[in-house]
Amino acid sequence: MAAPSGTMRAVQYDRYGGGAQGLKHVEVPIPSPKKGEVLIRMEATSINVVDWKFQNGFARPFMPRRFPFISGYDLAGEVVELGAGVSSFKPGDKVIAINFPNGGGLAEYAVASASRTVARPPEVSAVEGVCVPIAAVTALRSLRTAGVTVTLDDPARAPATPKNVLVTAASGAVGHFAVQLARMGGHNVTATCGARNLGLVRSLGADEALDYKTPEGARLRSPSGRKYDAVVHCAAKGLPWSVFRPVLAASGTVVDITPGFVAVVTAILQVATFSKKRLVPLMVTPNKEEMELLLGMLKQGRLKTVIDSQHPLGSAHEGWAKSMSGHTTGKVVIEIGAAQP
Ligand SMILES: NC(=O)c1ccc[n+]([C@@H]2O[C@H](COP(=O)([O-])OP(=O)(O)OC[C@H]3O[C@@H](n4cnc5c(N)ncnc54)[C@H](OP(=O)(O)O)[C@@H]3O)[C@@H](O)[C@H]2O)c1
Repeated sequence: MAAPSGTMRAVQYDRYGGGAQGLKHVEVPIPSPKKGEVLIRMEATSINVVDWKFQNGFARPFMPRRFPFISGYDLAGEVVELGAGVSSFKPGDKVIAINFPNGGGLAEYAVASASRTVARPPEVSAVEGVCVPIAAVTALRSLRTAGVTVTLDDPARAPATPKNVLVTAASGAVGHFAVQLARMGGHNVTATCGARNLGLVRSLGADEALDYKTPEGARLRSPSGRKYDAVVHCAAKGLPWSVFRPVLAASGTVVDITPGFVAVVTAILQVATFSKKRLVPLMVTPNKEEMELLLGMLKQGRLKTVIDSQHPLGSAHEGWAKSMSGHTTGKVVIEIGAAQP
């Protein structure tokens, strides 16, 4: 297979802010893989909240962008060229990769480190597989951080002591995976979501579902009076500790994947005071082992990906706007090779 050369279609932004309208369709040179990298002919990428948060300037002091910037951190496609020293892949391999924080997925070709690239099983489509790196891995890591076992090896093995797990924003990209993984581990799952998705989160494995717009939902109260051993807090809006504390078991842990300043201070104070109930801020960079485990579960049909919407590269701004609305159900995927409707 000859290494591609020339230019490719891509979608980029060239300043902070601007939302979906700030995205530009451009023709740019195809990147070359550096040492330890693979060049991927892209089949799909997904839009994550972090894509547009970075565009909005989130983390700007710590991770300044170099413009123009091609976003898209989750990558699915076919290896077409190997950088020096890469022997774990060959041209033609179908792969899933994460390229965070460098991005590049909103394009016909993208590079990724071979150390963060895994084989995609033929049973898993590019569209399903590309939802794994950021969303599914964050769900898995959050549960593990909260001490919730996910019995990945033996679906029939329930934990000796099932835990009471709460997943907030269970209809979202991370939440819908967290519900399934917790249920797969044999745990009792309470989920919060909007009224329109109560049936969906039940079908994914939640045995209790709460509408977050009701008073009980806003207070995270389990209808059966459960106290939670673990909370995977995916709802983007932070909640004060006074909401979590009364609904937690004696040693309950809240893993907050959108921690603000107050959450970080709360967590530090809890460590300093040896509090048994804990808030744990979490930022996730997916690793190979996690991606392989989750792709294996998709292959076996034990895990499923809920797709909110699919958009061709030429309409990437529509997927971007959808994600920015905060009202997606599951994942937003951009299909790179798909024809424009
Ligand atoms: N720490 C990390 O490494 C990491 C990794 C990935 C994501 N994140 C963060 O995690 C958060 C969630 O990401 P995501 O991609 O899962 O979000 P998402 O897919 O955009 O979530 C959208 C869903 O959340 C529901 N929702 C909104 N507010 C809610 C609330 N207060 N209670 C219950 N449900 C609510 C919405 O329901 P309705 O449409 O019915 O309102 C919608 O279905 C984001 O802030 C993201 O930046 C962090």
